[in-house]
Amino acid sequence: MSRNEIQLMNGWEFTLKEPEDSNFEAVNLPHDWAIHAPINRNMKQGEAQGFRDRWGIGWYRRNLVFQEIREGYVYQLQFDGVYENSTVWVNGREAGGRKYGYSRFTLDITDYIHPGDNLILVKVDNTSFPADRWYSGAGIYRTVKLLELNKHHLKPEDIQVKTAIHGDTGAVTIMTGVSSLVKACISDGALRMTGESENGTIRIEIPQVKLWSPEQPHLYPLELSLYEGNQVVDTYELRIGVRDIQMIAGKGMFINGKMTKIKGFCIHQDAGCLGVAVPSEIWKERLLQFKAMGCNAIRTAHHIPASELLDLCDELGMLVYEEPFDKWTGGSYRRYFETEWQGDLECMVRRDRNHPSIFMWGVGNEVENQGQESMLKILKMLKEHLVTLDDTRPVSYAMNPHFKYESNVDLSKVKDIQQFVDEVSDTEIYNSDERVERIRRIAELVDVIGCNYQEQWYPAIHKAVPDKLILGTETFQYFRGHPDQMQNFSEEVPWMDVEKHDYVIGGMLWTGIDYLGESMGYPAKGWAGSLFWTNNERKPLSYLYQSYWTEEPMVYLAVMDYSLQDEGAKEHWDAPRYASHWNFPQFNKTVIPYMIATNCEEVTVDLNGKPFYVNKPSSYPNRMITGFLPYSPGTITVRGYISGQEVCTYTLKTAGPAVKLGFDSEELRLEAKEGYHTFFTVRAKDSGDIPVFRESSKVSFRVTGPAEIVAVDNGDLCSSEAYDRHWMHMYRGCVSTVLRFTGERGRVVLSAYSEGMAPGQLVIHVI
Ligand code: GAL
Repeated sequence: MSRNEIQLMNGWEFTLKEPEDSNFEAVNLPHDWAIHAPINRNMKQGEAQGFRDRWGIGWYRRNLVFQEIREGYVYQLQFDGVYENSTVWVNGREAGGRKYGYSRFTLDITDYIHPGDNLILVKVDNTSFPADRWYSGAGIYRTVKLLELNKHHLKPEDIQVKTAIHGDTGAVTIMTGVSSLVKACISDGALRMTGESENGTIRIEIPQVKLWSPEQPHLYPLELSLYEGNQVVDTYELRIGVRDIQMIAGKGMFINGKMTKIKGFCIHQDAGCLGVAVPSEIWKERLLQFKAMGCNAIRTAHHIPASELLDLCDELGMLVYEEPFDKWTGGSYRRYFETEWQGDLECMVRRDRNHPSIFMWGVGNEVENQGQESMLKILKMLKEHLVTLDDTRPVSYAMNPHFKYESNVDLSKVKDIQQFVDEVSDTEIYNSDERVERIRRIAELVDVIGCNYQEQWYPAIHKAVPDKLILGTETFQYFRGHPDQMQNFSEEVPWMDVEKHDYVIGGMLWTGIDYLGESMGYPAKGWAGSLFWTNNERKPLSYLYQSYWTEEPMVYLAVMDYSLQDEGAKEHWDAPRYASHWNFPQFNKTVIPYMIATNCEEVTVDLNGKPFYVNKPSSYPNRMITGFLPYSPGTITVRGYISGQEVCTYTLKTAGPAVKLGFDSEELRLEAKEGYHTFFTVRAKDSGDIPVFRESSKVSFRVTGPAEIVAVDNGDLCSSEAYDRHWMHMYRGCVSTVLRFTGERGRVVLSAYSEGMAPGQLVIHVI
């Protein structure tokens, strides 16, 4: 008999008032009440939380009907994450809850339920201060499941799968977590490889094994059946990947023997207009876009992610650096550190250690008192505990570039912890040898040295600790510091340091995609120093990274435009203000700076047919071509060449007035699936279909058929327009909407209207 798993995403009710009948309103999960909260400039921790007033206590309830309660069975409620401080009652009896909003928790409710109607009530207490340094969201924002299991069942968190490769054979060791008979079966099409054990360890060999790698993420289904006598009482299925990751000092990281650099993005968990209630298909769209530009890794900063995100990373071949929390006794987690660290760390490793995509664990980020005795003690404790749960992956810690002398600051009184750790104060250690000595002490306790923003010191760090590799756990996108002045704007793209040194295994940009919170002050509601806007649109600098990270020939041109509004990006995390348009009505023959990103050997540029000479990309620092073109309206054409052959081209045209709206396609097909969400973007176009970058009119969306509009987003984090309307102004000539499909088949027509423009229409055949 296999286990029964039922997702409980519909049929909930919610209130932010007293939990009385008349206050509750129907909601579906995932649900984030903060994303619909009015923008409040004066709210407590407004910058950090994107000015969406999240403070308060929310109540959720749901009726759960059981036809029967089966003898010999247990019933569990599993919450993948509730932000935060949750308490769950079943029929009025308290069943448990969880403080930390990123940890999965599973409650045994067998003793509290009966046949017929059962009331689940969940209190979500967001009054504890401070919440994270970034937008936390509020509510039951991840998956909830009901599990019906035989009393005697397998516990996924106790199962551990280890793999090794011997020649063509994959050796799989399965620790079942039980000391009774378990039979295991790995399938490869029609081929079935089996094993069994009564003592908790099963070994299976896969001949001609297909390996998991970022390029070819092969997964094998593994089925485990638990026996009682000769009866199967529980079956649990997971997917495993066979891969070998070696960190070799001085040489780099090798995946299945191939040297691989981490081309990574740090990410937070929100998706702009959806807040933190992000269905996995939205992450799939994002990850596919990341992959298309060559990104092969994400860092789930700075918390445990939704488990579905890791499933996607396994499937799509995205490496993952996962960490359970940000700071320890000094940041927002200080509320919980002492009592919860062990449980939260265990929750992460035991839930996630069987994902082949996870290549490294982190145990913290830019913590207080870095390099001092008190910090080293905690680092040692966390690392040692983690290794007892998983000894197959390296463990790191993301180091702040600032080091300070010991001082007697009461950390619990520090209001802005990030400011405090970053602040260049009297206690800052400038002496390079002293800094490196502190790094050496940290490096002794981790497997890979995680450096946030320290490219300028890589050679010195490597000299002091030659036996450990370095990973840029955070990097700026364009600038890097100078060895004598950390916060210098040196125009050396940090990726160059990854290419230069074998002992550097990669870099992870802060961040891949814009996020809510950690804003530089009103009106900015979020962080704008990334390579994608929140509505999944690419920013110009993403093409520079594509030129570094991919081989498929590409060429791209953008121009510098400081007349555009401030997006609220921060200092070193910002980049020169490039934009993808050729409309400067204020200029006539004025020279405009441009950049070209390409992975070709040579390029040519012409404006309205007139060629302008450019050097080979390799002769420019950062391999980014820069130059000037005298403005006159028309067409810029860039061509890329390899071995003298033209292999790709890019054009940028001056747009005329916007006369119509257009979606990226006019018609598409989708499979019917209840609750499926996806982004659709509409652009302003001129009569020749050229996108009109400067257009910012209001667009209204309307949908007919089996789908509804759940949100709108134009990527502009400085706008104060609500996300949960059917209209929004365009930003950079476009605006997106998220549709939710009902699950029925039929014809969905999405229309977009703007005054003075012909409407745009998209027909979606839901089959
Ligand atoms: C880093 C920190 C990140 C983010 C970033 C931008 O130092 O680790 O969480 O705050 O700075 O300010």
